Amino acid sequence: MIRLVELSLGREEEEAVLEVLRSGRLAQGPRVAELERRFAEYLRVPWALAVSSGTAALELSLRALGIGPGDEVVVPPFTFIATANAVLWVGARPIFADVSPDTLTLDPEAVKEAIGPRTKAVIAVHLFGHPADLRALSEICEDAHLHLIEDAAQAHGAEAWGRKVGSFGTLAAFSLYATKNMTSGEGGIIVGHDEGLRRRIELLRNQGQEEKYLHVSLGMNYRLTELQAALALVQLGKLEENVEARRRNAAILNKLLKGVVETPREEPWARHVYHQYAVLLPEGTPRERVRKRMLEEGVETAVHYPRTIPEQPLYRRLGYDAACCPVSLGASRRVLSLPVHQGLGRAELEKVATSLKRALES
Ligand SMILES: Cc1ncc(COP(=O)(O)O)c(C=O)c1O
Repeated sequence: MIRLVELSLGREEEEAVLEVLRSGRLAQGPRVAELERRFAEYLRVPWALAVSSGTAALELSLRALGIGPGDEVVVPPFTFIATANAVLWVGARPIFADVSPDTLTLDPEAVKEAIGPRTKAVIAVHLFGHPADLRALSEICEDAHLHLIEDAAQAHGAEAWGRKVGSFGTLAAFSLYATKNMTSGEGGIIVGHDEGLRRRIELLRNQGQEEKYLHVSLGMNYRLTELQAALALVQLGKLEENVEARRRNAAILNKLLKGVVETPREEPWARHVYHQYAVLLPEGTPRERVRKRMLEEGVETAVHYPRTIPEQPLYRRLGYDAACCPVSLGASRRVLSLPVHQGLGRAELEKVATSLKRALES
């Protein structure tokens, strides 16, 4: 079976985790601090803070910026639900702006239209590992005095104009969830530039504790464990190699699938890290039938995501209308994620392509 996800976990990870177990220190210790230092160095940003999930990273980013009831935050409708849920969770209102058909990331023109007097921030999602148009979005946010938050949950190592994503926004949120290009099982990292924000997030993630049992503000427990940090550190060491393998595999798939489906585009200014290799099937393709045929031939696929966020029952109840965002709606019906991970060789990629072609013809 050619799996959609194959983790790159080996002896190094085993040893790193065992070492933590044997050390007897399982929470908030030297590995968390080292992960934060090395991740910030990798992105060339002043600081990074490890937290318990990508969702927590988004929530804490919004809270640290003082965003809450009465505020609006512009988000794309074609993303994982956590992007918009984080906004609801802090009591603010998500406003959906459609994505561009080229990269399936926020369309800057749609963002301009979505901005109103209550808007406080824009969350740009680097969907599937392709950066959003950070130049245009930074400019829009600067002009309108808004915070740009990057949802880089799927984009460790992606670049725009030669700079790592995560380094453009006021704050950026990464996920270390089990299927991500770099993982600790569950986990997240927030990166930023401003020292005041760093301090606020540090308090928010750890019970508002300034020194042992001195609590100066309302915080939560959003900490990462030493076991997770040890795992993430080994994964960070392998990230570039794995991203390069994904990029090589994506280039092979692009050639094999040319003219068959719409292959993912990489803008000339971008480095796509192919967290997902998502193609667009011809309009009207019975997608589930294609997936079933491919699975019968031993090729696993997935759909990220079959519904836009405004279509989700929760958001419908809140009065959102999916008609707002036709590009997102169209993409959600046609998108299909194919295996692209670092463990695949040429023969397997050929099997993926042949199997897709056969399934489309049948
Ligand atoms: C775009 C996006 N945002 C946010 C998240 C939330 O991350 P986590 O699952 O680590 O909470 C994810 C993860 O799946 C994601 O893909």
